[in-house]
Amino acid sequence: MCGIVGYVGPNSAEHFLIKGLKRLEYRGYDSAGISLLNGDLTTIKCKGKVSNLEQLAAKTSHESHLGIGHTRWATHGEPNDINAHPHLSSDGSFTLVHNGIIENYAAIKEELKSKGVVFQSETDTEVIAHWITEIMQRTGLAFPEALPQALGQLTGTFGLAMVHRDYPDRIFVARRGSPLLIGVGSGEHFVASDPAPVVEYTNKVVYLDDDEIAEVWADGYKVTNMKSIELDKEIHELAVNLEQIEKKGYDHFMLKEIMEQPESIADCMRGRLRTDPAQIMLGGIEPVMDRLLAARRLIIAACGTSWHAGLVGEYLFEHLARTQVEVEYASEFRYKDPIISEDDVLLVISQSGETADTLAALRLAKERGAFVIGICNVVGSTIARETNAGVYTHAGPEIGVASTKAFTAQVSVLAMMALRLGQLKGTLDEQRFQHLTNELTVIPKKVAEITKNHTHIKEIASLFSYAPNFLYLGRSYNYPVALEGALKLKEISYLHAEGYPAAEMKHGPIALIDQYMPVIVIAATDHTNDKMISNIQEVKARKGRIIAIGPATNTEVADLAEFYIPIPSTEDAFSPLLTVIPLQILSYYVAVNRGNNVDQPRNLAKSVTVE
Ligand code: M6R
Repeated sequence: MCGIVGYVGPNSAEHFLIKGLKRLEYRGYDSAGISLLNGDLTTIKCKGKVSNLEQLAAKTSHESHLGIGHTRWATHGEPNDINAHPHLSSDGSFTLVHNGIIENYAAIKEELKSKGVVFQSETDTEVIAHWITEIMQRTGLAFPEALPQALGQLTGTFGLAMVHRDYPDRIFVARRGSPLLIGVGSGEHFVASDPAPVVEYTNKVVYLDDDEIAEVWADGYKVTNMKSIELDKEIHELAVNLEQIEKKGYDHFMLKEIMEQPESIADCMRGRLRTDPAQIMLGGIEPVMDRLLAARRLIIAACGTSWHAGLVGEYLFEHLARTQVEVEYASEFRYKDPIISEDDVLLVISQSGETADTLAALRLAKERGAFVIGICNVVGSTIARETNAGVYTHAGPEIGVASTKAFTAQVSVLAMMALRLGQLKGTLDEQRFQHLTNELTVIPKKVAEITKNHTHIKEIASLFSYAPNFLYLGRSYNYPVALEGALKLKEISYLHAEGYPAAEMKHGPIALIDQYMPVIVIAATDHTNDKMISNIQEVKARKGRIIAIGPATNTEVADLAEFYIPIPSTEDAFSPLLTVIPLQILSYYVAVNRGNNVDQPRNLAKSVTVE
C-alpha cells in the first residue's frame, strides 16, 4: 500500500527519495511523486512506476537537501498524474504526502469549496492540505502550531509527511493509524513508512505512535502529542539489514522467499524448541500461559494468508491441546458485534503487523476486556506493540506481495504454541510430546528436500499455465492449505482458483469438472487418506486432470494421479508446512510463464493499511 519517504541532510534528497521509493515498491502502488525544497518547492509526480518518475526527474537538475516522496495505491480517485502525491496547499506554501484514508473528507471538502477553494485532484489527501491552510487562516496560527488543531479534526487514518517553504530546514510528519518512523543518522535524518528505505543508512529508528507529530531536521527531531507536549521517544535498533531486503541473485523476491523457507522455519524455532529432552519455550507468551490455559475460547483473527495460517492453528489447538478455537476474518469480526468476554483470548496473526482490519479486531477485543496475543513478523509493528503478549515469527523481511515464508513461520509458531499448551494441559503425554517435538525439529530439512528438487513442479506449471480455472482440494489440516494454494495462484497469475474441503466438492464444485479442469489434490493427511482417494476417483470419473501432492510412500494416490508431487512424510499436524511449498512453487512458475509481475501483482498491496 502507499509508501512515504523523506530526507533532510547534506546529501542529495532526490537521490535518497528515488532509491527509497524503489525500496518501497514491494508494498504495491500505481503512481509516485516527490517534492524537493530549495528556496521554493519543486514537485514531480506521475502515474506508473518509480522508474517513470526517475526519468521525469532526470530531465531537470535539482540541488536540494530536503524532500519528501510517495508511492500511491489509489483509494479516492483513479491512478493518474494529478491524483499522485505530493499535493500542494491552496496558498502554495507547502506540499504533503499521505498514507491512509480521511473518512470525513467529503464534508470538509464541501466546506472548503463553499469558501472558494479550488481542488485539483479527486483525492482525500488534497483536502488535508487545504484544511491545514484554512485552519492557519482562521486562527492566525503558524504552520507547526496549526497542525495539531487541523489534524485533530480529521477522522480516519493518516501517515503524513510535509515540507513547508517557510521552514526550509525541516520535514513535518504526523501519524494516526498508518505507520511512520524517523531514521536517526549522523548529521542527516530520514522519514519512512517502513524500515526498507532507511536500513542502508542507519539502524536507529524512532517509531511514531498514533496522534503524534514530529519535526525532523538534519541534526535532530522533536516529537510532540496533539497537545503540543514534547515526548521522550525510545530509539529502537532495526532487526533487518540490507542483505535481507535484496534479491541475492534470484529473479524475484517471491522465489527467494520460497527457497529461504528451510532457514526461515529454522530461525523461527531457534532457541524455542529443544529435543533432548523435548522442551518448548516461547519467551513472549510463557509468562501469560495461565491466561491461555484458563481461556474459555481462543479466537483467532487475521486476513488473507495469515487467516489461512489461523485455520491450520484451529486444527492444531483443537487436536493437540483440546482448546476450543474460532477463526474469524478480522475484517468481519468487528462488524458482527462479536461476543467477547474477559475469559476469552484473542490471537491475532499478521506478517506486517500493520493490517488495518486485524488492528481494528485487536482494539475491539481489548476494549471488551479480552486478553490479546499477537503473532507478527515485523518487529516493532503496531500490532506487535498493541498486543498484551506475543511471539515474533523471525522469518526475516518478506518483500514479495504474495506471502510465502511468513505463512510457514506462522504455522510453525502455532504448532509450537499448541504443543506447549497440550503439554501443560496434559492432552499430550510425554512420549507423544517428545515424538511431535522431534518431528517438528526436522521439518526445515524436509522443506529443503522439496525446494531443492522443484524442477518437476516447474514442468507441471508450464503444462497448466494455459488453464483459466483451478480447483484445490484438501482435507483436515490440508483444507486451509488448499485455500492458501488457490489464493497464491490467483493473486500472482490472475487465474481463477478455488480452494475447497475435498468432501464439499460433491455439494457443488463438482459441476465445474471436465477434461480441462486441473484439480490440485493435497493427499498428505494420513487419517483422511481413504476418503481422499474416493474424492480423487470422483474427479477422475469426470475426466478432471489430477495433480496430487503427498508423501512419496502414498503409491495409491500416486498411481491415480496424472501428475504426482512427492514430499517427505511427516505427522499430519505438520503436513501443511510441507504441502504448501509445492503450491507456492507452482503458482510462482505459472505467473512467470504468463509474464506477470510476480513481486508486485496488479491491484495488490503488501500491507493493507486501509479498512
Ligand atoms: O500482513 P498481514 O499478514 O496482516 O497481511 C494479511 C493479508 O493482507 C496478506 O496475507 C495477503 O493476503 C497476502 N497478499 C497473501 O499472499
